[in-house]
Amino acid sequence: MAGSSFGTIFRITTWGESHGPAIGAVVDGCPAGLPLSEDDFTPFMERRRPNAGPMSTARREGDRVQILSGVFEGMTTGTPISLLIQNADQHSADYSAIASVFRPGHADFGFRTKYGVRDYRGGGRSSGRETAARVAGGAIASKILREAGITIRSEVVSVGGEPFAEALPLLKKARAEGDSLGSEVLCTVHGMPAGIGDPVFGKLDAYLAEAIFSIGAVKSLDIGDGRLTASMKGSENNDPFRSENGRIITETNHCGGILGGISTGGDVILRVCFKPTPSISRPQKTVDTDGNETDIEIHGRHDPVIGPRAAVVVEAMAAITILDAMMLNMTAKLSSFRAFYGPQEH
Ligand SMILES: Cc1cc2nc3c(=O)[nH]c(=O)nc-3n(C[C@H](O)[C@H](O)[C@H](O)COP(=O)(O)O)c2cc1C
Repeated sequence: MAGSSFGTIFRITTWGESHGPAIGAVVDGCPAGLPLSEDDFTPFMERRRPNAGPMSTARREGDRVQILSGVFEGMTTGTPISLLIQNADQHSADYSAIASVFRPGHADFGFRTKYGVRDYRGGGRSSGRETAARVAGGAIASKILREAGITIRSEVVSVGGEPFAEALPLLKKARAEGDSLGSEVLCTVHGMPAGIGDPVFGKLDAYLAEAIFSIGAVKSLDIGDGRLTASMKGSENNDPFRSENGRIITETNHCGGILGGISTGGDVILRVCFKPTPSISRPQKTVDTDGNETDIEIHGRHDPVIGPRAAVVVEAMAAITILDAMMLNMTAKLSSFRAFYGPQEH
């Protein structure tokens, strides 16, 4: 399937279906010499892992990442890093009812139309399960970014239009009604160097948008003040520059750390909206693969809201994108080339 890889120098390819034996990622372009063990993935994977809590699907997965290649004696070797995550708790029978009908709001119709066949078990490749592999790749990117003092945080800010911390009653009600809720995730990249991002088509904001919109159920991305800028004045939206200890910084950060597609050195701020989970149990109208109108009730195990499980996915994709953009930037100036190679002694 085309479209399963992302990144130019630091490049991730994910593979596998929700109900296949395993899913995984191949990460190419990781520099040699990075200490890497399976424990490095655990804190990231734990944040995405289904935990059967009120905000999560009841599917149980250990989500332990196994390193198959690219690491020798605890260090990356510069060769492709192959990562494997077992699928353990598939209930494929739950999905036989949707084998020949299209779930409203899901990818079923698109996959069937495009390929003529589809792995309907758990949504196959369009499942949120695929994002576990991205999180594993993002854990490596984050570890490299920390070498440059860059840290990325993401949090759920709202669920169903309510502040996250107050949304549990709303979520329980939606669940009881066989429904689901939308959500918003805020992601902040701190410690960014200025000067990252390539004009014109490789703008950092454009590149981040490609990465974030590749996550299922993402419906909008705001950078900095985002959609609020439509009703702002230039004098409110512009960020004044000033000098601080020989460094040029902006006094405010309405631009979300990016101007002209190039980082300013301020925090990169992303606000990501996830639509409500499409698989809901209340009856809906749809058609079957022969085009006959029918009703559908989806019973499988589904996340009642996506943001709480996807916040770390946003973080992972931001990490991969920013690391790749930084690696691409290393050839922007002749001085960087000289500093790296210098005049050779012969
Ligand atoms: C972490 C994560 C978990 C998800 N869980 C579910 C789920 O349990 N049930 C579901 O129907 N969709 C779920 N989705 C959303 C679907 O993958 C997505 O809506 C579907 O592929 C259609 O793509 P689109 O919404 O981007 O158009 C999840 C997405 C993510 C990122």
